[in-house]
Amino acid sequence: MTTLRVVNKVTTHVLKEMKLQGEKIAMLTAYDYSTARILDSAKIDVILVGDSASNVMAGHKTTLPITLNEMIYHASSVARAISRALVIVDLPFGTYQGNSKEALNSAIRIMKESGADAVKLEGGKEVIESIDRILSAGIPVMGHLGLTPQAINKFGTYVVRATEKDEAQRLVEDAHLLDKSGTFALVLEKIPAKLATQVTKEVKMPTIGIGAGNGVDGQVLVLHDMLGITQEFSPRYLRRYHNLYEEIKGSVESYIKDVKSLDFPNKKEQY
Ligand code: KIV
Repeated sequence: MTTLRVVNKVTTHVLKEMKLQGEKIAMLTAYDYSTARILDSAKIDVILVGDSASNVMAGHKTTLPITLNEMIYHASSVARAISRALVIVDLPFGTYQGNSKEALNSAIRIMKESGADAVKLEGGKEVIESIDRILSAGIPVMGHLGLTPQAINKFGTYVVRATEKDEAQRLVEDAHLLDKSGTFALVLEKIPAKLATQVTKEVKMPTIGIGAGNGVDGQVLVLHDMLGITQEFSPRYLRRYHNLYEEIKGSVESYIKDVKSLDFPNKKEQY
């Protein structure tokens, strides 16, 4: 039987306690009010307003085009729905890299205008100045290492990262750097399970995996992928809990049929 932690509100402190007590953290993405309400009532621990909104909400090929204003729109819609889950928002591409002052301004805008609890950004050593500056304002920061989608043009491929010794070593060093800086948690995306387990054991902050095996402290999936709304994206790590694409399509087809055949609305469905 699954026991869910009894708390009125999940905080960064609660996540740390969960790691210490060996209780796994469940995280999913959400981008709108209605879906976020369902996730919160199911008692999801963490909701990530991911920049994957760029793909699944806006239809872009990568996460790069989404803007800070668009992220704030999604984040404030989610935050209005939540009473229990910790809400984390991705800083979008171009709002924190190479300029720690801009990073702080972006993070402050997210916190002030959306009502979210924390921000997430991608990268290690190269963004540490931005992380330090955001943390200095009292804004909790989640890190993200491994396959960092905002760097897809540098990688040139979505294959598993850090399979080579050098890249694995750099990832471990970055994880320690983030841990020391005070980052409250770390997403590890698409890296070998053994490496993710090693990082998890070595750092104090909780690690949340996506395609990183089960030696991490928690898991995250993109909601549209796990519900089967997206069809074409099928990495090995993805478990689909539904085929909502077909379910929604079937309902829409039934509705069209009912309208065209004058079956809808019937006598009881009118005034
Ligand atoms: O944007 C996102 O949804 C993410 C998750 C894949 C971790 O960063």
